[in-house]
Order: sequence, then structure tokens, then C-alpha cells
Amino acid sequence: MKNIILIGSTGSIGTQTVDIVNGHSDLFQITALGAGKNVELMKQQILSLKHKPKFLSVELEEDKKKLEVWLGEKGLDAKVYFGLDGLTKIVEQADGDIFLGALLGAKCIHPTLAAIKKKMRIALANKEIIVAAGPVVLKEVEKYQTEVLPVDSEPSAIFQCLQGNKQKQIKELILTCSGGPFRTFTKEEMKNVTVEQALKHPTWNMGKMITLDSATLVNKGRELIEAVRLFSMRPEQVKIVIHPQSIVHSGVKYTDESEILQVGPHNMRIPIQYALSYPERIEKVPEVDYFDLVKIGRFDFEQPDMERFPALRLAYKSLDMDGTATAVFNAAAETATAAFLEKQIKFMMMPEFIEAALDAHRTVKNPSLDQILQADKWARDFVDEKIKGGLE
Ligand SMILES: NC(=O)c1ccc[n+]([C@@H]2O[C@H](COP(=O)([O-])OP(=O)(O)OC[C@H]3O[C@@H](n4cnc5c(N)ncnc54)[C@H](OP(=O)(O)O)[C@@H]3O)[C@@H](O)[C@H]2O)c1
Repeated sequence: MKNIILIGSTGSIGTQTVDIVNGHSDLFQITALGAGKNVELMKQQILSLKHKPKFLSVELEEDKKKLEVWLGEKGLDAKVYFGLDGLTKIVEQADGDIFLGALLGAKCIHPTLAAIKKKMRIALANKEIIVAAGPVVLKEVEKYQTEVLPVDSEPSAIFQCLQGNKQKQIKELILTCSGGPFRTFTKEEMKNVTVEQALKHPTWNMGKMITLDSATLVNKGRELIEAVRLFSMRPEQVKIVIHPQSIVHSGVKYTDESEILQVGPHNMRIPIQYALSYPERIEKVPEVDYFDLVKIGRFDFEQPDMERFPALRLAYKSLDMDGTATAVFNAAAETATAAFLEKQIKFMMMPEFIEAALDAHRTVKNPSLDQILQADKWARDFVDEKIKGGLE
């Protein structure tokens, strides 16, 4: 039985993780659950789980108190915490073999570092922490001799295609990208797209922020940085390919010119489950449909257009700037995306704000975690100010 600590349980990745644990309660149990404000869903999750978690954390103190009363009424026993500190505490205190951090944004970093110190496997959904603080996080992974397994479908596909092969035989990584809802739009047409249009992802059903980040290709920019860092590649070794069907999830080209690609339904439960069961493959859960290549019929591939989707170019630029620049890319993108979601700025202003932040930033090379967190805060404040003033 593997013990799982899951934070962000009420979100898109979190709920799918609970499905997997419920489908394989002989293999997995959740020992700690962390969520934000959706306490009603968290209660349903607790009731659905065969083995009840002993540590819980919610965002607000008032919800912690209500949850304690509810647990008492149900005759359940669990220690409850609140706030971001609460998430770190449940990681420190619960029994855990695998940590799955499905929180949004760079705020997942402290619970993740706590899990690394406990030598837990890190099932990595939250690529933001590798983008913002990859070298620091990966140094800790090495120090505590633990492992990072990607949960995101594309890096998971790469990880799967690497099995049984040698690092020195890799020529390139193939990172596929659906192209998002505006793949065929002109730059002019993209100027006035709405939040509602941007939230209609053509293939994947995901949380709001990652769906918006897929529309700007910020998400692919983050995956590029994540792939460079997790798989020790040079940026030019990661080839981004637009693939509108989202059936080929990514792959690896080897020195003999063979490409191994991972193919399957676009259902996040597959890569999540693999990150939990690795090195084993286990039976699919009922929420994953039978996959039939004949029904898919065809695969298409295109070049990405960095002019219409400047976020990709900016991700390469931040990698080139190195040091704290990728933290700035990440934080500026998080802030601009949240402002677009709130309808404070237009779609094409998101990459403009990211670029303005990168241009104004003085990169610190080989940064400490504190310097990364400072750069993260600086970029959020910088973009907030620009949003208030409008981009001159
Ligand atoms: N969704 C996908 O298919 C997908 C695919 C690949 C990678 N990812 C990555 O996985 C991560 C999670 O994405 P998601 O789409 O699952 O996000 P999401 O649906 O927005 O869920 C976010 C989760 O974080 C919780 N949360 C937010 N702020 C919190 C806080 N201050 N304290 C405690 N909990 C907090 C939310 O709680 P409440 O809802 O209870 O407030 C929710 O459980 C992101 O890093 C994303 O890039 C997602």
C-alpha cells in the first residue's frame, strides 16, 4: 500500500487523483488532503475514500473550525490545519510515500520542499515550481536522493518514452502542443477574444488557469523550461510541434533518428496514475475510455508560430537570460493571466506584460531560494503596477 499526500485535492488534477485512489484502494491510500475554499467537495472526498486521511488542511481558519465540527459529527478523527503553512504541516506530519502537489502556481514550493526532505516521490503536476525554482528544487531532490515523476501529460509522455534507453542516446525531445482555441486565429483576430472563448480548450478539460495558459501557449513555454530542467536538455534540443488532436502526447528522438512517441486518450488520469504506480502499469480506472486509433483516423503536425504566440519566444528568452529570469517569466504570466481572467486586460496584453517584466528584470545568476522568491514577488508587483497604469 502506497501512502499519498495530496494537496489541491478539490481542483482538476486533485479530483482525478481521488478517482484513481478510489479505483485502486488496494494499492493506494490518501493519508493527508489539502484544499482551498471548496470544503464541501473536500468533505465528499473524505467520505468517498475507503481509508480516511488523518491530516487535513484548508485555506481559511473559519473553514478549519467548521471542518472540525463536521468531523466530530461524522465520528471521524483527523488533525486539521489552515493556510499555506497548514499544507506544509500536513506534508511534514502524515505518513507519505508519494507527494502530489496539485496546487496552482509557485505557492506549492514549500510543501514540495518539505516532501523532498522526507524523501517522498514527487509526482509533479505543478510545473510552475520547476519553472520558477528548478535548479534549487532539483538540487534538493539530488541531496535527499528522491525522484520526480511528471504528472503533466507531455513530460509524462517523454518520461515514458525514455524508459529502457540511455540519456546519451537522446537527440531531441518532441514536445507536442494542441495549439489551443486560437491556433488558426490571426494576430488581429486574437486582439479581441474573450475569456469565455479562451476557456474553450479544443481537446483537454482542465482547470481555468491552465486552460487560459494553453490559449496563450504560456503553458507550453512552461513545459519547455520544465523539459529542459527535468531531462537535462539544452533548449534547442526541445522541439515544439503543434498537434491539434492531442493524441500524441510527446516523445523522444534518438541518435539513430528513431522517434518514440507516447499515444493515448486525452485523459489526465493516465499520466497521474503512471506517476503513482511507476514502475508498474496498472489497470485503467472507469473514467478512462477504451482507446481506438481507427476512430482517431489521423494525426496532424504543424510548426508553432512564435509571432502569433509570443509567450513561446519569451520562454526561450527567459531560459537564455537564466538565473531568476524564469521565475519572472512564471510570475509575470501568472499575474497577467489572472488579470485577463478578471477581464482587466485584453488577451494580447498578457505576453506584452511578460516581455516588459523580463526586459526590466536584472537577472541574478545561480540564485538562492530567497532570491527566486524575491524575483517572483518583484515580477508580480511589476505586472500589477503595469495593469493599474496600462502598458505605456
Ligand atoms: N488540470 C489539468 O489537466 C492539468 C494538466 C497538467 C498540469 N496541471 C497543473 O496542475 C496544477 C493544478 O492545476 P489544476 O488545473 O488542477 O488547478 P485547479 O483546478 O484550479 O485546482 C487548484 C487547486 O488548488 C487549491 N488551492 C488554490 N489556492 C489554494 C490555497 N491558497 N491554499 C490551498 N489550496 C489552494 C484549490 O482549492 P479550492 O478549489 O478548494 O479553492 C484546488 O484544489 C497546476 O500547476 C497546473 O499547471 C494541470
